[in-house]
Amino acid sequence: MPSSDPFADKPSERRAAARTSVVWGALRPVLDAGPCDVLDLGGGTGVSAVRAAELGHRVTVVDPSPDALASLDRRARELGVQVTGHQGDVSTLLDVPGRASADVVLCHGVLEVVDDPAAALATIREVMRPGGTLSLLVAQRYAAVVARAMAGHFGQALAALDDTAPAGRSGRRVTRDELEALLVGAGFEVAQVHGVRVFADLVPGSLVDSEPGASAALVELEHAVAGREEFLPLATQLHVLAR
Ligand SMILES: C[S@@+](CC[C@H](N)C(=O)[O-])C[C@H]1O[C@@H](n2cnc3c(N)ncnc32)[C@H](O)[C@@H]1O
Repeated sequence: MPSSDPFADKPSERRAAARTSVVWGALRPVLDAGPCDVLDLGGGTGVSAVRAAELGHRVTVVDPSPDALASLDRRARELGVQVTGHQGDVSTLLDVPGRASADVVLCHGVLEVVDDPAAALATIREVMRPGGTLSLLVAQRYAAVVARAMAGHFGQALAALDDTAPAGRSGRRVTRDELEALLVGAGFEVAQVHGVRVFADLVPGSLVDSEPGASAALVELEHAVAGREEFLPLATQLHVLAR
């Protein structure tokens, strides 16, 4: 009998869907408007880039990691799509040959690790065409406090409360107000803010994996709370569409 859960046979896809569905739900109307030039800054191994390429867009990934770019190449080849990879980072973005401009810039999980987020956003603003869209995904500070407290690390939770400095491998985390101030300071207009992974990281994976239909219900719940102010401080990440 067919399951009501579209990812029933693939636990890894079930978890990925719960983590990324809200981002792609916001991005699809932008990407569905017609083929355009997409720049994925810090696009890593190309998970988002190939997805955008599969939708018919011309996609360029700029990333400092040669290993990530090699994985991107493999991924694109396996899926039969074309994605251009450039080794570089936000500080060299303006020097990328032919990069001149992009209609859509993806910057997912990167503001956490750049040296100067304000300068990074100013550079992105320069490469974005008039009327273009920035899709920005950044770790949200208060979720880290909740996660640490839930794990019994109360001292670490306390330390994370007002910690604006980049911390460890996962880098800096921001609040919604900080993120909006950074964007406005760089000349962006914030169009949408969504909370991403409000519950997905709090729920034990085993529960989602074993309960029939649980992952689909979790995705539905994530979408339902993503735009609600009261849940934003619980979200692992903030997703912003800015123009
Ligand atoms: C957490 S990964 C995110 C990868 C991808 N955007 C995603 O959402 O799956 C961060 C990526 O940023 C890249 N990165 C690190 N420093 C950077 C910089 N200064 N400018 C651009 N990308 C950078 C890393 O090589 C890595 O691929």
